[in-house]
Amino acid sequence: MEFYRVVQERRSIRSYLPTKVADDKLVRVLTAGQLAPSGKNAQAWKFIVSREAELKAALVGACKGQKFIAEADIVLTVCVDQTACYQDHGAYMTSFAVDGAIAMQQMMLAAVVEGLGTCWIGAFSEEGVREILNVPEPYRIIGLTPLGYPANAGKDRGRKELAQLIKWEKW
Ligand SMILES: Cc1cc2nc3c(=O)[nH]c(=O)nc-3n(C[C@H](O)[C@H](O)[C@H](O)COP(=O)(O)O)c2cc1C
Repeated sequence: MEFYRVVQERRSIRSYLPTKVADDKLVRVLTAGQLAPSGKNAQAWKFIVSREAELKAALVGACKGQKFIAEADIVLTVCVDQTACYQDHGAYMTSFAVDGAIAMQQMMLAAVVEGLGTCWIGAFSEEGVREILNVPEPYRIIGLTPLGYPANAGKDRGRKELAQLIKWEKW
């Protein structure tokens, strides 16, 4: 699928069919995360693929009751080791959140190519998700997404005009 069509077609999907995601599709999505850039190429991430019904139900509880998360075949969770990532990003922070966000987004775009839906889940309790998925310190949980077959096409939420976003040459 042409890249700009992929970017345009991606929507947050909040309703899923229970259909299983084939392994080859899942591997291609995960590979898109593997190939993401990261500060100093640290690749300090883990991608957790959760399919067990009890785990997915528990994750709903840790994600403010967002029930649609458990409808999808898979819940994908991105974690990054905050001590192993690049430590001097912009001389004011470490790169764990940036690295994890890029990997997550690459997988979300790959999912579109595979006919799969995703929805970035940022409303979660890190401690809750950590406990359910046994995520050790010093990994931080960057985000989760359901990964599965969309039950609907999702809504066009609109965007600001490009002219409102761009500064040419200087601010
Ligand atoms: C950091 C972040 C956190 C988000 N958290 C949630 C969430 O917890 N639940 C949810 O339904 N959508 C969540 N979203 C999805 C946004 O609401 C969505 O991307 C935005 O409304 C634009 O819609 P679109 O993704 O369909 O283009 C999150 C998105 C981002 C980038």
